[in-house]
Amino acid sequence: MENLKQMIDEAVGFIRTKTKDSPKLGIILGTGLGGLAKAVKREFEIPYDQIPHFPVSTVESHAGKLLIGMVGGKRVVAMEGRFHLYEGYTLKQVTFPVRVMKALGIETLIVSNAAGGLNPQFNKGDIVLMTDHINFQGDNPLIGKNDDTMGPRFPDMFNAYDMDLRNLAIQVSIDEKIPIQKGVYVGVTGPTLETAAEYRMMRILGGDLVGMSTVPEVIVARHQGTKVLGFSVVTDMGLPDALEACSHQKIVAVAEIAGPKLSRLIEKIVERMS
Ligand code: HPA
Repeated sequence: MENLKQMIDEAVGFIRTKTKDSPKLGIILGTGLGGLAKAVKREFEIPYDQIPHFPVSTVESHAGKLLIGMVGGKRVVAMEGRFHLYEGYTLKQVTFPVRVMKALGIETLIVSNAAGGLNPQFNKGDIVLMTDHINFQGDNPLIGKNDDTMGPRFPDMFNAYDMDLRNLAIQVSIDEKIPIQKGVYVGVTGPTLETAAEYRMMRILGGDLVGMSTVPEVIVARHQGTKVLGFSVVTDMGLPDALEACSHQKIVAVAEIAGPKLSRLIEKIVERMS
């Protein structure tokens, strides 16, 4: 990642051979939320392995395509499948697509993920509006020399999850009768799910949710001045005193059930975005 600027230019140059559009909104579709991709009336799609410098997704539940199309009457660029630290990528690789989407023209990024619930008031299948995060990955995509033309050396994480967009999401959830919870997301490396003791610790530290993604992408989005709105789907409950066996298959199955609800919510939010 020596010449990040040049790599971004090459990726965008390739995408520009397919479209001259500049979508103002980017969406990252999380685990099992590929169904959300159906909400994208796609004009075209590009497999990641065709885009210069894009990592290639290694998780089966993540398809690995960049979609350009319409959602809620607006042109969007959507990532069907994302990259994770546990796959062996660096956080610079994990967040490269967020840089590319910015260069394509996005001003706002909607992120979604599957997460374990730490807050005992949550239930499997709940949609949670992310209010904040705790970076528990022991790494940061901005470590290394800063390119001041991309963003500041010490980005502020005030309002990381944009307050106006959160208020809009809450209003839409009321109007559309799609209940949502609110919570703080703890980002971990994975690939192990947590022990009971770890779930307990994360709850004590202030987390409502835990998952293996999203935090690096949000950090880079904020570094480059992109506004963020985030949602989690609670796929399993991390209650230390009532822990049940879990598996990736179960997580994907719950995410797929909740997907259409989140998809409708996001469509309605996008319709009402200015
Ligand atoms: N822990 C970490 N990541 C997750 C979980 C979890 O319980 N559920 C979905 N992603």
